[in-house]
Amino acid sequence: PQRHAADLIVFGGTGDLSMRKLIPALYHCDRDGRLADETRIIAMSRGGLTDADFRGKVDSEVRPALHGDDDEGWQRFLRRLHHVSLDVGSSDRGGWSALTHLLAGYEDRDRVFYLASPPMTFGPFCREAHEAGLVTPRSRVVLEKPLGRDLVSAQAINDEVGEIFDERQIFRIDHYLGKETVQNLLVLRFANAFLEPVWNSLWIDHVQITVAETVGTPGRRGYYDHAGALRDMVQNHLLQLLCLVAMEPPSRNDRESIRDEKVKVLQSLRPIVGSEVDRFAVRGQYTAGEGVPGYLDEPASTPTTDISHRVETYAAIRAEVKNWRWAGVPFYLRTGKRLPDRRSEIVIQFKDVPHAIFPGAAPNRLVLRLQPSEGIHLLLMAKEPGAGEVTLRPVPLSLSFAETFQSRVPDAYERLLMDVLAGNPTLFMRRDEVEAAWRWIDPIIENWEGSESLPEPYPAGTAGPAGAHELLARSGRTWHEEE
Ligand code: BG6
Repeated sequence: PQRHAADLIVFGGTGDLSMRKLIPALYHCDRDGRLADETRIIAMSRGGLTDADFRGKVDSEVRPALHGDDDEGWQRFLRRLHHVSLDVGSSDRGGWSALTHLLAGYEDRDRVFYLASPPMTFGPFCREAHEAGLVTPRSRVVLEKPLGRDLVSAQAINDEVGEIFDERQIFRIDHYLGKETVQNLLVLRFANAFLEPVWNSLWIDHVQITVAETVGTPGRRGYYDHAGALRDMVQNHLLQLLCLVAMEPPSRNDRESIRDEKVKVLQSLRPIVGSEVDRFAVRGQYTAGEGVPGYLDEPASTPTTDISHRVETYAAIRAEVKNWRWAGVPFYLRTGKRLPDRRSEIVIQFKDVPHAIFPGAAPNRLVLRLQPSEGIHLLLMAKEPGAGEVTLRPVPLSLSFAETFQSRVPDAYERLLMDVLAGNPTLFMRRDEVEAAWRWIDPIIENWEGSESLPEPYPAGTAGPAGAHELLARSGRTWHEEE
């Protein structure tokens, strides 16, 4: 349990992320007794709301989406909430005065500034908080992704934030690292002995990392036009998953050991540049299908522009980690919106048996299912019962987390918010990690943005552009699909 009282200040506090993820996560932490009694949650936005307005908004918008709340606990949670109106970058200092007033006398508490706002506000927010005298030695700042839009902008933001906060006070969030199954990957690899000897290019043929979503981008075009799947998903979530699969065993489970190993993986990624981009990276954009509009016709608060036509809602990449363990093993990454199923998984495909005495043997696959139906499945070859000829069939050895542990799977944000309050940055990205990830992504984005061709269209509800299939088919491989 969290023992110290804290003030958690959420900038962008009435936005989508805050209302959909942060507030529910904080409620669940509170219900589990993990927030100190005096802990306060202070939302900041331009909204001009009073505390009562904000509590009413949370009551009507958040509560219905919660599974099982108790009235007394909910009312206690609502009393923790406050709202301060603030417009960063404006000459009106009223918001900062109001916040100063609210925080006066609480300088010895943990103070967390959670920036759930666009990256260009990170620097100005930190500077203004500092000018208002609100950055105490016990303060931390949480930066939501994407951190910038390329290496140069990420460095500029890191510099600006770094002028006010020490690196140890900066928590760059990637919520995939807080997912239960993602942490289980580390336990699977480093708390079991049998996998490590085969976890290398001698035994593994290739790795697939898939984050498939059924959602589109309704209402998000203003953001998504300037992001696209590479910046929104690959630079952070997919590369973090790749790091956890590929990293060397760390010597300790602590903040620097794990991050040191992850950054080495990012630095070992073979750059994909120039004409290689067309060979190793595929992009697509969904068009209308199955009764839903295409990306360009999605309801949005901003009109489509030339940029909208160029934005990828799907990306697939063949990556390579150039080190002793992984030389020659492709890591295929893919992610997209409006695909047939919501499914995130990591598939480790082993090599063929060195000498096949039975016809029909398929290589083993280890499937780590991140969501939904979290679990681990090892596909083994077995003999079908029968007295005739030996017939082989792949059968799964399966572990379902829900069945085995019979407990609620907490949302990633619950874990990560508690880590911020406890001052533990192990599951957050260090500056060098974020920058190494951009360094690898940048040439691909530059190539796409400078290219005359457009993303390959794929109808909503289908499995993505044909190019993604070809990316593997060229070397005789196929994407893992639902059994
Ligand atoms: C976010 C992206 O970081 O992750 C979204 O901005 C995406 O576009 C989301 O939908 C996916 O997260 P999850 O936890 O639902 O897999």
